[in-house]
Amino acid sequence: MAVSELGDRTDNAASAGGSAPHGEERPVILEARDIRRSYRMGDTVVHALDGVSFQVRQGDYWAIMGQSGSGKSTLLNLLGCLDRPTEGAYLLGGDDVAQLDDDDLAEIRGQRLGFIFQSFNLILQLTVLENIEVPLFYQGIPAREARERAQRYAELVGLGGRTHHRPLELSGGQQQRVAIARALVNEPLVILADEATGNLDSATGREILGLLDQLHLQGRTIIMVTHDPNIANRAEWVLRLKDGKIDRIEPGGKHPEGVRTPERH
Ligand SMILES: Nc1ncnc2c1ncn2[C@@H]1O[C@H](COP(=O)(O)OP(=O)(O)OP(=O)(O)O)[C@@H](O)[C@H]1O
Ligand SMILES: [Mg+2]
Repeated sequence: MAVSELGDRTDNAASAGGSAPHGEERPVILEARDIRRSYRMGDTVVHALDGVSFQVRQGDYWAIMGQSGSGKSTLLNLLGCLDRPTEGAYLLGGDDVAQLDDDDLAEIRGQRLGFIFQSFNLILQLTVLENIEVPLFYQGIPAREARERAQRYAELVGLGGRTHHRPLELSGGQQQRVAIARALVNEPLVILADEATGNLDSATGREILGLLDQLHLQGRTIIMVTHDPNIANRAEWVLRLKDGKIDRIEPGGKHPEGVRTPERH
């Protein structure tokens, strides 16, 4: 089964996808309010993020760009609840995660977020299906249901015929597809990707971006850190960081003309 044939989210696509009708307001699902993150290095303090505010609406596709050291990974780690801001608020699905403890953060990561990494981060001893099941295992989903869901998402990313392979028996593009299925299997609010095509050759990278395009069209929310200007053409919004601040937010190639202007405080 190809992505385009999967029906589970397509009913939402009109209201939640990038093709939302002119002027329609989709709900805000993620909001950074004046987020700061500093690191103390001996006597000096590094301001990795220095007052960042923006809102992401359901179904958005954002690319986060900026030079090396501008704060992209720091921001993605905060958005992904792997870290807490030093100051400011971060609202995810309405909860201020800046106030939560480590256990709560881990729970939120498992329930609301899907991660895709540059280096795939698959467990080499596990099969494709078992890798996709990992987030469900942490949520205590019964084994039978987990297996069914993993199978469905393996098919969604075009790996229905490879479910019993282990990662090293797959190509790089196939490994990233497993990682994407794993990111989707818990039906997250947001998919966070850190250079998801960085380790792939350009043809395979385009294939993975095509898959992300299809997921976006089905209404999924995607935030991707990238150095690749081509990705900006596929996103609706491009957030450019400079020295820990938002340099600018500009419409990307998939920007639905005139839908709205993002919040900038
Ligand atoms: N754990 C840390 N301790 C101290 N300083 C840090 C730490 N992590 C990041 N920094 C500093 O914060 C700033 C932003 O780093 P960050 O990793 O977010 O940049 P980046 O935009 O992801 O860069 P790259 O494109 O090279 O991955 C840099 O000046 C970096 O040196
Ligand atoms: Mg980085």
